[in-house]
Amino acid sequence: MNTPAIGQLDFGYPWWLSYGHLAVFAVFATFLLLGFARKWSKWPMIFLGAVATWSAASFLLIHFGLDINGRAPMPTQSFLRSGTGRILDLGAGTGRSSIMVLAARPQATLVASDLFGESFDHHFGHGDSPQERLLRNLKAAGVDQRASIVTADMRKLPFETSSFDAIVSSYAVDHLNRDGITQALAEAARVLKPGGDFLLVLVSNDRWAKLAFGPLLTHGGTRSPSWWDAKAREAGFQVMEQGTSPVTLYLLLRR
Ligand SMILES: C[S@@+](CC[C@H](N)C(=O)[O-])C[C@H]1O[C@@H](n2cnc3c(N)ncnc32)[C@H](O)[C@@H]1O
Repeated sequence: MNTPAIGQLDFGYPWWLSYGHLAVFAVFATFLLLGFARKWSKWPMIFLGAVATWSAASFLLIHFGLDINGRAPMPTQSFLRSGTGRILDLGAGTGRSSIMVLAARPQATLVASDLFGESFDHHFGHGDSPQERLLRNLKAAGVDQRASIVTADMRKLPFETSSFDAIVSSYAVDHLNRDGITQALAEAARVLKPGGDFLLVLVSNDRWAKLAFGPLLTHGGTRSPSWWDAKAREAGFQVMEQGTSPVTLYLLLRR
């Protein structure tokens, strides 16, 4: 893959998702050392050691397995094998998923769509306009010439039927309620050309998520891979591939 030189990417996910465990480790490891030096009794030392071990293991898992503030790898190379065409990103946010597919498919163009509302602020905080933050990242990744930004609700898309060759959506559809998911999948099926690919990436409340975050990452947590499989089929998609990586479930769907 040819990745152009990049400037300063800032996906803007909260610091604690990337470094929270490291902060916990620093505190507990410090007390552990203090405890050794002052010869504290066995049980407090076991407790400090257990939390320090858990936080170090969770940091490594999240850093190397998810790396939410770093560039995302494509979960499957089977997405848009032709390499060309017009892609739609549903819930593009600050551009992590858009940059992922534009870097992997250098002949393709992409429409980065998002509602840029409450959910955006919830994930990325207030600050400059969301569209400017997204554009800055597209420029930093050197893909802005092949991308455009559209404010849109994925439950009611302002695009014509069969107007995209492929769709990507990462960690976004799972933020909707049950009806919203049904609407978004139906809209995706409507705007995608017959035979087009839909790469649906979801937060998975798997054992890694439970180990590292406990109940903090709950969205999608009650929905199993088979639930998503059935929902996608109900919307008229074929499920071509399904896979996991830490905290992530992906489905490659075909219309
Ligand atoms: C966790 S972020 C994911 C951003 C990006 N796809 C990524 O992989 O980093 C979820 C995004 O979904 C967007 N979103 C939530 N509900 C939406 C809706 N109904 N229509 C469009 N976008 C929505 C939010 O604004 C937010 O930017």
